Amino acid sequence: MQSPNPPAAAVYHDTVVRQFALMSVVWGVVGMLVGVVIASQLAWPDLTHGIAWLSYGRLRPLHTNAVIFAFGGCALIATSYHVVQRTCRVPLFAPRLATVTFWGWQAVIVAAAISLPLGYTSSKEYAELEWPIDILIAVVWVSYAIVFFGTIGRRKVRHIYVANWFYGAFIIAVALLHIVNSAAVPAGWMKSYSAYAGVQDAMVQWWYGHNAVGFFLTAGFLGMMYYYIPKQAGRPVYSYRLSIVHFWALIFTYMWAGPHHLHYTALPDWTQSIGMVFSLILLAPSWGGMINGIMTLSGAWHKLRTDPILRFLIVAVSFYGMATFEGPLMSIKTVNALSHYTDWTIGHVHAGALGWVGLITMGSLYYLIPRLYGRTEMHSVKAIDLHFWMSTIGIVLYIAAMWIAGVMQGLMWRAINDDGTLTYTFVESVKATYPYYVVRLLGGLLYLGGMLVMAWNVWMTVISGRSVNVPVPQIATAHA
Ligand code: HEM
Ligand code: HEM
Repeated sequence: MQSPNPPAAAVYHDTVVRQFALMSVVWGVVGMLVGVVIASQLAWPDLTHGIAWLSYGRLRPLHTNAVIFAFGGCALIATSYHVVQRTCRVPLFAPRLATVTFWGWQAVIVAAAISLPLGYTSSKEYAELEWPIDILIAVVWVSYAIVFFGTIGRRKVRHIYVANWFYGAFIIAVALLHIVNSAAVPAGWMKSYSAYAGVQDAMVQWWYGHNAVGFFLTAGFLGMMYYYIPKQAGRPVYSYRLSIVHFWALIFTYMWAGPHHLHYTALPDWTQSIGMVFSLILLAPSWGGMINGIMTLSGAWHKLRTDPILRFLIVAVSFYGMATFEGPLMSIKTVNALSHYTDWTIGHVHAGALGWVGLITMGSLYYLIPRLYGRTEMHSVKAIDLHFWMSTIGIVLYIAAMWIAGVMQGLMWRAINDDGTLTYTFVESVKATYPYYVVRLLGGLLYLGGMLVMAWNVWMTVISGRSVNVPVPQIATAHA
């Protein structure tokens, strides 16, 4: 006989997913706005009238921290909490701790937004925050790891879906990188000295910096790719076997490529060569992953014509392919001799950042947000389409301007007259770059405009929907 009061079905813990997803959009707008301000400052250096806390040197790390750790970080945590529950068919482990990760991460972001404009910095790129904030980051990150791996540990499905491997590697690697690179001797509440000295400090920093690219800006987002592209396309991953090879090859190779950031420095020459060789090898797993993502659409290419979310996701993967072709090229020492210190690097960064990280995040959030609010799709599909075109045209303007400017700068700096003197003064190269900085700004404005369209669309979706509690499906009938 059936019990008159059957136990309430377990539901997924999606409140924290909603919180992180919405804050990703908010921080995306803020971080890109600061990007537009610093892009304007490069074209018109006197723009902020010498106000110290609005100076370029202080706003630039604010931009990088906001877009990488606030916009990207919130999206990564939101989607990983969503994906791990769906693919393991259990609610989050330690949901209260998950809530702590949300508020803790927002506290880190606010602390960064205050301390960086005030001029507090450890001066390590992408690790500028001072030691008390670093400790908070470590605590939040370990809590995040407990929630994520705890959920995997209590899963009802034997197999661990590949997206979780990528998210898991991202979580472990970022913990390791952050803790090792942030080791410092405090010399006051907001002042510290690195625990490493000289060239070792540089090497540890770029081991961190490059793997921040490899694990924060790549592995975690590949987790998104492996879940949301098959979902949105309604097709399985093109080759599951390739996804496993992709995973192991990528995480093994990335760890060794850091020295390509230190070519022609005091770092021993053989170390630089190892960095270059591993960067060249990295092309293979990166492209394996890209092909796997794009080919997931095989047999369903027509969907690209009508589905703007899928377009976001697939174009993101194409930019991933572009950035990971360009990166190995730039790691070749003779090429780096031209590209280093120029805007070519900035073009490469934003092909990855705007094209890959930005678009895959936006596509995933467009899939996720309506489902978190009990709707089948976003408030306006036309607005998604508009956003897609604004951001794509914005990216093309941005990176094309930087590529041309970068190669031009590199060539001007090395041009020599017959008598051995330099053909151009440095300031001539700065003057020649001015029009490209204005074009980059236009591209940035378009990209930011697209993000504002997204913020409006998300807002309309949220207010016309309601927070739903999705029951965890029973194993026998479930589909992830
Ligand atoms: C509206 C969009 C954006 C604009 C206008 C913009 C603009 C800029 C500018 C002007 C710089 C400084 C370049 C220099 O020092 O010469 C910069 C640096 C940087 N931006 Fe952006 N950005 C945008 C979006 C993003 C996004 C979404 C990300 C990451 C997800 C990102 C990541 C970075 C990084 C990592 C750097 C440092 C590059 C380096 O040191 O080589 N940006 N950005
Ligand atoms: C196979 C993959 C990749 C390789 C081998 C690679 C290689 C490189 C090289 C050689 C540089 C220039 C270093 C210098 O001259 O200082 C660079 C800079 C950079 N790359 Fe990549 N890249 C790859 C993929 C990516 C992706 C996908 C992203 C973003 C999502 C990215 C983000 C960056 C950033 C932020 C920098 C600037 C670092 C700085 O100086 O502040 N890279 N990369």
